[in-house]
Amino acid sequence: MTRIADPAAFILANTRLQPVPHAPEISLWLADEVTPIWRLTEEELGEMGLPPPFWAFAWAGGQGLARWLLDNPHEVAGRRVLDFAAGSGLVGVAALQAGAASVLCADIDPFCAAAVALNGQANRVGLAFTDANLLDAPPPVVEVICAGDVFYEKPMAERVLAWLTIAADRGVRVLVGDPLRTYFPKSGLDLLAEYAVQTTRELEDSAVKRTRVWSLGPSAAHRRRLPDDRPGTILKP
Ligand SMILES: C[S@@+](CC[C@H](N)C(=O)[O-])C[C@H]1O[C@@H](n2cnc3c(N)ncnc32)[C@H](O)[C@@H]1O
Repeated sequence: MTRIADPAAFILANTRLQPVPHAPEISLWLADEVTPIWRLTEEELGEMGLPPPFWAFAWAGGQGLARWLLDNPHEVAGRRVLDFAAGSGLVGVAALQAGAASVLCADIDPFCAAAVALNGQANRVGLAFTDANLLDAPPPVVEVICAGDVFYEKPMAERVLAWLTIAADRGVRVLVGDPLRTYFPKSGLDLLAEYAVQTTRELEDSAVKRTRVWSLGPSAAHRRRLPDDRPGTILKP
């Protein structure tokens, strides 16, 4: 995708700082409507058929996961966290507010570096960012991986699940927020919480999305190789 000259200026001109409905402790630079900012993004980049400007919205999955982290700070306190497919950086901000030692936000959208930086500043937290496609390599060394709203497209969902499972098999705590998107995995996840998350009819099929937070356990094959069923137990050769 083409690079834009000044993404931060574009974001500031076309969004407004507003509290996240399900995590009002956090304010983000968000758009009010999807169509105008999508059209403007395509005009700005001189390209048609681009994916939606995901970074300009707080998706239901991310909102649920952010809420859960804020309410369960022990899950991330003092830990290195990856916010995979960060979009606005919402989940990363929540992790730092909950006491994470560090957060790396990863997203391949060329606007996300600026969106994450602006949203970090707005909430007075320092988020690291990478636009590398982390799915091309083994998961990075962190204690917790968060993934908010990543199961909306089949090829991506399959790749992400396989990659997250590698991390879970290595003992990484993998947390997922999802409003039961079409390609949400049917098994392998343990339910942690359920919320009714406010969103918009323009973005979703309803103004409130039932959203769940899950942890992804080790794969069945990995569990069979463990001396007992405790996640994170050291493997015997
Ligand atoms: C529905 S948005 C969710 C954003 C955020 N987590 C939230 O819940 O508000 C999905 C995000 O996944 C990102 N994405 C898609 N493929 C990716 C990949 N291979 N690596 C990192 N991010 C990716 C998109 O750019 C988009 O920002």
